[in-house]
Amino acid sequence: MHEHDNEYKQLLLNNTKWVEEKLSADPDYFKLLSKGQNPPFLYIGCSDSRLPIDVFTGANPGQIFIHRNVANQVFLNDMNLLTVLEFAIKTLKVKHVIICGHYDCGGIQAAYNGTDLNLVENWTMNVRDIAMEYKKELDAIENINDRINRLSELNVIRQLRQLCKTSIMHEAFKQNNYPQLHGWVLDIAHGKIIELELPVAEWKDYGLLPENYL
Ligand code: CO
Repeated sequence: MHEHDNEYKQLLLNNTKWVEEKLSADPDYFKLLSKGQNPPFLYIGCSDSRLPIDVFTGANPGQIFIHRNVANQVFLNDMNLLTVLEFAIKTLKVKHVIICGHYDCGGIQAAYNGTDLNLVENWTMNVRDIAMEYKKELDAIENINDRINRLSELNVIRQLRQLCKTSIMHEAFKQNNYPQLHGWVLDIAHGKIIELELPVAEWKDYGLLPENYL
């Protein structure tokens, strides 16, 4: 027997128990779930194991369509993300798009401090650009952890701006007055979600958001 067998088996035991609980509360629960999805939210977050967003928000299966990668990056040539985005916007017609970063993010730390993982370094190169762009503001924050946490916030706003550049979003905004955009950071040490203010007026000025965006 492998030394990690128990923690692995526990997952499947938990699943069996959870199914039983759900069925005893509602015998049709999975029958209804299997009929299809109509989630109002698209969530783009970090891969970090500490932040399953449905647990933190009390959301149920079927409510949140999810894409995750290291440090919640939006690259305009990332077929994985673009495919998720297109499906969420065009087919599921989600009403909200949330990009969520978090404090104590390893990806953001790697971008700021450097790392010996080459691919992480490549992947987070845009975060380093943000750090260079906001050097003055960041340098004024004495505590290094606070500084990196601020970089997490700036990163969320930057990735939302990236999202606004996609043709998928442009088309959606032309046709509807949704989706609404939201920037979150999860403060892991307190479990709290912090809503970030977005520079909506500035994005409108540059044509990233339509004039009638609320
Ligand atoms: Co992270």
